[in-house]
Amino acid sequence: MAVLASGRGSNLAALLAARDRGELAADFVLVGSDKVGAPALRLAEAAGVPTVALSPAGYADRHSYDNALLQRVADSGAQWLVLAGYMRVLDGEALLPWVGRTINIHPSLLPKYRGLHTHRRVLEAGDLEHGASVHFVTAELDGGPVIARALLRVEPGDDEDALAARLLPLEHRLLPAVVALLLSGRLQYLDGQVCLDGRAVPTPLLLGADGLHAAG
Ligand code: GRF
Repeated sequence: MAVLASGRGSNLAALLAARDRGELAADFVLVGSDKVGAPALRLAEAAGVPTVALSPAGYADRHSYDNALLQRVADSGAQWLVLAGYMRVLDGEALLPWVGRTINIHPSLLPKYRGLHTHRRVLEAGDLEHGASVHFVTAELDGGPVIARALLRVEPGDDEDALAARLLPLEHRLLPAVVALLLSGRLQYLDGQVCLDGRAVPTPLLLGADGLHAAG
């Protein structure tokens, strides 16, 4: 498995911790970043995971950059790709060989609030419920089929920081749980749909106290 991250890397840390606890049978073959100074890279180095930092500045366009980065991912031997705070949209054509093998974590209840500033937008809309989603990555920004969600109640007096602080620990449980399911072979992307044990999952799975379960 390879991980791409642009920033602090707390979700990467959660994946590594889950592996260390024996909850995730993952072999981390590469952590890549578009930011040379990303703390996620330092975390990976400390864990003994090979890293690559490629700056988009050296490339003519998004397509050539993404091709180069995903080639490095392929060369690492990775079968799966996890976007954990990777802040660039991947070029559709470069992504093609990875569709169905790439997942992303996003801090909203997708399909609501694709893109940035999700906590702010939840508060502005007056939503009573917020959360995080893990989805298969397609060329559409935060638009691929949603695999699973973690729900968070919005409390009176919440601000962006409070929501972010309460959501992050849920993300840190959600992402390893979905990755574990993916690596088990039970989860698949078929005809644009999420399938579990060969059957389409009509509604995203939910993170409960004891892991993922069917919604409803
Ligand atoms: C997380 O909130 C994740 O949902 C979003 O970017 C943030 C990354 O945080 N895609 P970290 O780098 O994993 O700490």
